[in-house]
Amino acid sequence: MTSAARFVQQVSRPQGAPTAGNFAFVEAPVPTPEPGTALVENIYLSVDPYMREAMDEGHWELGTPLEGRSIGRVIDSRTPELAVGELVFHRYAWRTHAVVRPSEARVLPPLTDIPLSAYLGVLGGTGLTAYVGLTRIARVQPGESVFISAAAGGVGSAAGQIARLLGADRIIGSAGSAAKVKHLTERLGFDAAFDYHDGPVAELLGRAAPEGIDVYFDNVGGEHLEGAIDALREYGRIAWCGAVSQYNSGEPSAAPRNLYDVVCKSLRLEGFLVRNYRSVQDELEGFLVPHLRSGQVLVDETVVEGFDRVVDAFTGMLRGENTGKMIVQVSEAP
Ligand SMILES: NC(=O)c1ccc[n+]([C@@H]2O[C@H](COP(=O)([O-])OP(=O)(O)OC[C@H]3O[C@@H](n4cnc5c(N)ncnc54)[C@H](OP(=O)(O)O)[C@@H]3O)[C@@H](O)[C@H]2O)c1
Repeated sequence: MTSAARFVQQVSRPQGAPTAGNFAFVEAPVPTPEPGTALVENIYLSVDPYMREAMDEGHWELGTPLEGRSIGRVIDSRTPELAVGELVFHRYAWRTHAVVRPSEARVLPPLTDIPLSAYLGVLGGTGLTAYVGLTRIARVQPGESVFISAAAGGVGSAAGQIARLLGADRIIGSAGSAAKVKHLTERLGFDAAFDYHDGPVAELLGRAAPEGIDVYFDNVGGEHLEGAIDALREYGRIAWCGAVSQYNSGEPSAAPRNLYDVVCKSLRLEGFLVRNYRSVQDELEGFLVPHLRSGQVLVDETVVEGFDRVVDAFTGMLRGENTGKMIVQVSEAP
């Protein structure tokens, strides 16, 4: 075991896109667990878009260790509920070591053929967000057309693959580069995809879905939402998951300028937060694990190696440097 632990704290509020100067790496002795707790050495850290909003005034405090989802290994324990060697999911990321109480940790199943990192991606909150948006919010039906934005990211790549398993007939994705468009159609089974930099979203989507769409899974907001409202057929549904095009701007977007079409076309637009659906986690695992085993669903992820690169991974994810779920590996995986 190393003698030093490291963590990242935020030292200033980002103006627009966050930069390395907004963060500091801090070193401290590896903590000793108190009775009733266990010491975890982190293996994988998740960096997520919601963290950008948490960095603004009124959310995360400056000068304290940042938080986020993580998977690690118990290396010292003062509680019978967490045994040394067990792999656990918890919410103390942005650090190499964490002291957790049993109520704060979920013991993961023993290692199988499914990669451990999947529990931060398609089998974790990311996959759960996609699954809830499609099954509980949009309620996708077999034969329907589904459009997904930020489709080559963590939630988007899971949503595309899950929509297919739910029987969606035509799945369309938007992403930020030609390479990602190729990834969507050639690796993830999307029927059509476009790079949203190539023109107005409404036009690009109109070309990719000339018959219209039934469901829009919105990760982006703004112009994407406006284009999707245009393309939605009567009684279509929008599962509004996120608005990543706006997180750095701090300004509300002028789009969608066609919101009243929600009335004219009898659309349903519903926002949701995955934290209100944690009870669906077992259902997600029951649904996806056989498809992961059969290879029908891919664990789509970008793994950045080294604790030193956690800030780069976070800012890079906001710029679209990831394909699939962005994960940081900070120690050796079993
Ligand atoms: N409601 C919930 O409970 C919940 C839970 C988890 C996540 N979310 C939301 O789901 C969305 C996706 O999250 P994720 O964790 O899977 O992240 P992600 O999609 O893996 O990463 C963010 C992606 O956003 C895209 N992006 C950045 N700026 C953009 C812009 N101006 N326009 C369009 N795309 C842009 C980038 O891809 P490109 O290269 O394609 O631009 C980037 O890869 C986010 O909006 C997030 O807030 C919501």
